[in-house]
Amino acid sequence: MDGLNELKSRILAAIDAAADESTLEELRVSAIGKKGEVSLKMRELGKMTPEERQVAGPALNALKDEINSALVAKKTALADAALDARLATEWLDVTLPGRNAARPAGSVHPISQVTEEISAIFADMGFAVAEGPQIETDWYNFDALNIPPHHPARQEFDTFYMHRDDSEDRPPHVLRTHTSPVQIRAMEKTGAPIRVIAPGRVYRSDYDQTHTPMFHQIEGLAIGKDISMANLKWTLEEFCRAFFEVDDVELRFRASHFPFTEPSAEVDLRCSWDNGQLKVGEGDDWMEILGSGMVHPHVLRSAGVDPDEYQGFAFGIGIDRLAMLKYGIPDLRAFFDSDLRWLRHYGFGALDMPTLHGGLSK
Ligand code: DAH
Repeated sequence: MDGLNELKSRILAAIDAAADESTLEELRVSAIGKKGEVSLKMRELGKMTPEERQVAGPALNALKDEINSALVAKKTALADAALDARLATEWLDVTLPGRNAARPAGSVHPISQVTEEISAIFADMGFAVAEGPQIETDWYNFDALNIPPHHPARQEFDTFYMHRDDSEDRPPHVLRTHTSPVQIRAMEKTGAPIRVIAPGRVYRSDYDQTHTPMFHQIEGLAIGKDISMANLKWTLEEFCRAFFEVDDVELRFRASHFPFTEPSAEVDLRCSWDNGQLKVGEGDDWMEILGSGMVHPHVLRSAGVDPDEYQGFAFGIGIDRLAMLKYGIPDLRAFFDSDLRWLRHYGFGALDMPTLHGGLSK
């Protein structure tokens, strides 16, 4: 067929020289579009003798294929080049300080910091984090934890009750008074064995230098076939050693009573106060830091765990109190005043991450 070679080299050269995608598209239309040069030549096939057609047909098809491949290759090359050009000019250094240098960096609230520290220490001991709602039914907050309706412990909690009409067809709700109901929810969800901590907000109607109506606790729960009080003691000692960054911590287990544990123990930490500065592991003072015990069989049963097969320990730690002790913060109420000067003074940088035994990795 006349001029086929000339046509081919002209079109391929044009494709090669194309500077952008729209030029490529124009070339495609003018070469192999409906009225393109190659397509018009294909129409001529009908007027040829069979012999001529046998030569010209395959040659035209091959040309069309070649043009197609050249178009695709050029398109890819153009896209690559465009990306390279963008990468060369549009890179972004995310570590640069912001343009508005006047905007001060924020800080991590001591409660968040201490929650992170405690969670990291227990995570290293294999505890997962569990959560539950802050508006809780009185069943999860009390009954399931072996605190029946007229139990005196209900009064001790200074509970906030959610408003409820007696005619309403839903259970009474409270602002949870402790993180212990998360024990029940966690066991219901995954059964035993289980090892979780549950940090979160809790509420009681109380307000003075060491009490605020909202505060924070971390619940701990470890249930297995043969988990004992000895495991509880080791776990809490290990925790205190890591949290207070002191090797020689000494704990005292004092017999106590909680409806949800049997036996129950409150745990005191040996310490001294030197000019208002706390020293852990030395001195003649004992400071109460948490409540704990072996989970009561009624509690396991409420959560669908067989107490003849499983047993374990639980504990509840006041986060705010530990933060006050560790970082020398005298008044609990200041935690929640949102005073920027206070936050700047007591806050933490975003990268002050806790490590087990090593304290803060500054
Ligand atoms: N829920 C208790 C409180 O708020 C703290 C507590 C004591 C939790 C003993 C426990 C525990 O899990 O075993 O005062």
